[in-house]
Amino acid sequence: MLHPVEHPLIAEELTKLRDPACPSPEFRQRVRRIASMMVPAVTANLETTIVPCNTPLELTAGLKVTRGIILVPILRAGLGFLDGFLDLLPQASVAHIGLARNEQTLVPEPYYLKHPPELGECEIIILDPMLATGGSAIEAVRSLREAGARHLRFACLVAAPEGIFALEQAYPEIAIYTACLDRCLNSSGYILPGLGDAGDRLFGTCR
Ligand code: PRP
Ligand code: URA
Repeated sequence: MLHPVEHPLIAEELTKLRDPACPSPEFRQRVRRIASMMVPAVTANLETTIVPCNTPLELTAGLKVTRGIILVPILRAGLGFLDGFLDLLPQASVAHIGLARNEQTLVPEPYYLKHPPELGECEIIILDPMLATGGSAIEAVRSLREAGARHLRFACLVAAPEGIFALEQAYPEIAIYTACLDRCLNSSGYILPGLGDAGDRLFGTCR
């Protein structure tokens, strides 16, 4: 199910970072700030457990998030989203998945996966700024499920309707959080209006 994460501050940050004149250091900072602002919405329905809570005055009831959290940035561009999530979720573990879209076929090619052993017991938040055709997100979910993950959600900065549709068709149970739903894909699989190649802009590898 799609969850747009709407907020005036997110919209303003996104407007500024779409600009091709926004340099990498500023682009990284803005992506990080948006990621942090998305955390409350992305985690709003996490299951909690009642625990005893000591105050200086008396014993009361408190809450803890029931399951551990694992953040899974899709390399490379997902790394740009990671620190903003870790700022608010410092207790989270981090798994990494490496996928590179073949520029001709647009099919994601897996090259790396490293995760903590307890995938099945944890809440998994997959991070990638861009959901374009949906191929990378679908491959990430497939390989994490194969490795034992059960409680998965996906967070992105900009999504195309084509990618939302594909991910929902493949995994209807996965919640998709996006800061913005853009118009469509162009013939090269780039999101319009989009922001260009997120990985290149984050890491200064633009041609
Ligand atoms: C980009 C982006 C997503 C993917 C989205 O990564 O970060 O992972 O494309 O496209 P899709 O929905 O059509 O699969 P890319 O493969 O360019 O690698 P990078 O992060 O290393 O730049
Ligand atoms: N990946 C990107 O980085 N940007 C797009 O527009 C599509 C896929």
